[in-house]
Amino acid sequence: IKRVTTHILQEMKNRGEKISCLTAYDYSMARIVDAAGIDLILVGDSASNVMAGHETTLPITLDQMIYHATSVVKAVKRALVVVDIPFGSYQGNSSEALRSAIRIMKESGAHAVKMEGGSEIKESIVRVLSAGIPVMGHLGLTPQSIYKFGTYSVRAKEEEEADKLLEDAKMLEACGAFSVVLEKIPASLTKLVSESLTIPTVGIGAGADADGQILVVHDMLGINKEFKPRFLRRYADLDSIMNDAVKNYVKDVKAQDFPNEKESY
Ligand code: KIV
Ligand code: NA
Repeated sequence: IKRVTTHILQEMKNRGEKISCLTAYDYSMARIVDAAGIDLILVGDSASNVMAGHETTLPITLDQMIYHATSVVKAVKRALVVVDIPFGSYQGNSSEALRSAIRIMKESGAHAVKMEGGSEIKESIVRVLSAGIPVMGHLGLTPQSIYKFGTYSVRAKEEEEADKLLEDAKMLEACGAFSVVLEKIPASLTKLVSESLTIPTVGIGAGADADGQILVVHDMLGINKEFKPRFLRRYADLDSIMNDAVKNYVKDVKAQDFPNEKESY
């Protein structure tokens, strides 16, 4: 199998082929997602919510992200593996950013890192890129700044924030980022940014005009029943399927139906 590289993602944009992306945080899920032909797997800091049960992405640590990334990398044969640098490991200190990115690359074997923000973290982005580490940007609703926003609603609806987002996206491209995630912004702004940039954009809740799409895998598989924003399309109802399976197992154990003779030694 030919591995997906940042250059292949660029070629996809150049020829108008949309880029498919999902998150994964562990070996078993990453194996399934990769085997199904996804182009990019993000080891997102959404692991903080989905895997650890935290309310926000802020508590997850660099060590925990490296644990998740290491497990994912072991399973992946084709997709590009990108890892979120967690909150508190890169903002406001470019040498710490570089140290964090190097640890992720060295200890997990991932192929790239992602950082949230624009001009505020330019120094960190430049420094990480200077070490030869591919960087994906992330603009719009950046969950590590949730306490600044105070809400998970759509960003950049007003002109000022939209203008800054476009400037930040251009800055990321000029610095050498290979792609930019656009989260929860108006579809019209996604179109403008995607047409203004040479590098591919990847949208989540950002409309159809991004060069690629990403979802949290547990959300699209319906493992997370309570989370149902309008941008989410459910491709399975694993919550129900798994609930039924466990119920049946409990029933069989109680009824002394499991294990039967064939299942015993
Ligand atoms: O952590 C994450 O899952 C993400 C994606 C939603 C882009 O950053
Ligand atoms: Na993230």
